[in-house]
Amino acid sequence: MDEQPRFDSRELRQVLGAFVTGVTVVTTVDAQGRFHGLTCNSFSSVSLEPPLVLWSQATKAPSHPVFREVPHFAVNILAEDQIALSKRFASSGQDKFAGLEHDIGFAGLPVLRGCSAWLECKVVSKLPGGDHAIFVGEVQTIRRTPRRPLVFGGGQYLVADPHDLGSPPAGVAFEGQGQLNAVRWGARAMARLSKEFDQTMALSVWGNHGPTVTAWEPGSSPVSGTLPMGLILPVTSTATGLAFAANLPTAATDPFVSAELAAAVDGVSDSPTTPRSWQQAIAHTRQTGLARRAPGRFYGDQVLIHALSAPILDASGCAVLVMTAIGDAQQFSAEFGTPFAAALKATVESLSRRMGYVAESDARDESRPTLVSAL
Ligand SMILES: Cc1cc2nc3c(=O)[nH]c(=O)nc-3n(C[C@H](O)[C@H](O)[C@H](O)COP(=O)(O)O)c2cc1C
Repeated sequence: MDEQPRFDSRELRQVLGAFVTGVTVVTTVDAQGRFHGLTCNSFSSVSLEPPLVLWSQATKAPSHPVFREVPHFAVNILAEDQIALSKRFASSGQDKFAGLEHDIGFAGLPVLRGCSAWLECKVVSKLPGGDHAIFVGEVQTIRRTPRRPLVFGGGQYLVADPHDLGSPPAGVAFEGQGQLNAVRWGARAMARLSKEFDQTMALSVWGNHGPTVTAWEPGSSPVSGTLPMGLILPVTSTATGLAFAANLPTAATDPFVSAELAAAVDGVSDSPTTPRSWQQAIAHTRQTGLARRAPGRFYGDQVLIHALSAPILDASGCAVLVMTAIGDAQQFSAEFGTPFAAALKATVESLSRRMGYVAESDARDESRPTLVSAL
C-alpha cells in the first residue's frame, strides 16, 4: 500500500462493528477424525446459483492449519440463547467438543444442536486476505428451525427484533392491541432517546388513579435513587398529567382536576391553580404538543426538577401514553425550543402516526412545515 492508513486498528474495528452480523460456529473434521470449530461472524452469502458462501479465518488461529487442509466445513448459525456456545468456540486451547451434544452430518462433519440454521459445504476455493484466509464453500445441505438467531454488533451480543418503524406484520390491526403496541414501541423509542441525550425518562399510562408510570429509563445521573414503577402522578401539577389532560375526554380527567385545583396553593410553582389558568395550560399544551413543568419536586424529594412531556395519540386522538423527561432543575431546562424537545416531539409524533393518528395539519396539507420550524 502506498499511503499509510489514517486510522488505527482500534478505530477500524469500531467502524466494522457498526456492521451487525449473525454469529456462526464453523466446524470441521480432520483426517484423523478429530473435530475442530471456531466462532465466526465473517460468514457471508456469495451466490445463489451455484450456491456459494464464504468465511474468513485469521491465519494465526491455532486451528487454521486444519481448516487450510480440510475439504468440507459446516456453518452452524447460532440461536439467540447460544451465547455460551459462541464463547466456548471463541476460546483456544481446550477440546471444544468435550461434553457437547452434537450430531454427525454430511461427510462426517460435527453439527451443533439447538442452532437457528445449518449449512454444510464443500470447499471450492481458498483465497489470501491479508492476515486472514478466505474460504469459499459450495453449499451441499441446508436446514433451519424457527429459533431466532443470535446477533453481534458493536462488540456485543444483540437480539434480532423487527424494527419499530417497519411495516406491521400482515393482518395485524392496531385496534385490538393498540395500547400494547404503544407500550412496546414507546419503551424502545424512550430507551433510544434517553441514551442519545443521557436523559432520565418515564412512560406513563392513564390508570384508574390518573397518570401512572409504567416504565423508567434512567440517565447517568437520575434525579433520584428511586424511580418507582406504578408511581401515580397528580394531573394539574405534573407535565405528564397536563399532557394526558390535554388529550383525553374531560369526563376522564375532571374528577382529578377539580379535586387538585380545590387543594392547590397559589404561587408555589408555575402549576395552574385556578380553572382559568388550567384551561390556558390545556390550550397551550394542545397547541404545542408539549407540556412543561418547572420547577417541581420529585416524589416527595427535596430535589427541584423540570419535566417535559409529550403524548402518544391513537387513531381517535386520545393519549394512550405520555413520554416524559425529568431532570434536575439546575441541568435540565425542559424548554420547548431545544434539540431534545424537538427529538421528543418527533418521536411521539412518529409513534402516534404508527398508532393510526392523523394530525389535522397532515390531513389538511401534505407539505406541512417541518417539526423543528413548527416548534
Ligand atoms: C463473535 C465472534 C466472531 C468471530 N469471528 C471470527 C472470524 O470470522 N474469523 C476468525 O478467524 N476468528 C473469529 N473469531 C475469533 C475466533 O473464534 C477465536 O480466535 C477462536 O479461538 C479461534 O479458534 P481456535 O483457537 O481453535 O483456532 C470470532 C470471535 C467472536 C467472539
